[in-house]
Amino acid sequence: PEDTVRRVALQALQRYEGQQGNLLPVLHAVQEMLGYIPPSAVPVLAEAMQLSRAEIHGVISFYAHLRDKPAGKVVLEICRAEACQAMGGERLAEHARHSLGCDFHATTADGRVTLEPVYCLGLCAQSPSVMIDGRPHARMTADKLDALLQEKGV
Ligand code: FES
Repeated sequence: PEDTVRRVALQALQRYEGQQGNLLPVLHAVQEMLGYIPPSAVPVLAEAMQLSRAEIHGVISFYAHLRDKPAGKVVLEICRAEACQAMGGERLAEHARHSLGCDFHATTADGRVTLEPVYCLGLCAQSPSVMIDGRPHARMTADKLDALLQEKGV
């Protein structure tokens, strides 16, 4: 696996070689290929880009959509922006946190679900909305959410 990480990191670097400010696209490319950015990719990237490991860690932790651990089987994103908040988004978020037993930016202990906040899915007129594995769902309720997760087998 170490070799795979190295190969993927080098492949990502190659894709954006010579482009200024390419750290973010390189990190995205690694995450796209592996599902997350393994800690062992950081020294490879740091060396090739002449950056410190701390700088790279800083960028990974700054951008909420970059992760340094594998995601759960299902990724649930709940809209935390204003229109959804006004339509019960907060209650929905509380329900998800409570029933999953995990907070935002975290994965349930059994690796079933990763819970992430998202800020507007363009479905404000049908709020509150969520995204499950990249698919948007509008007019969400706690019951509907439970049913959707169940359908996903989690
Ligand atoms: Fe939630 Fe726009 S605020 S979809």
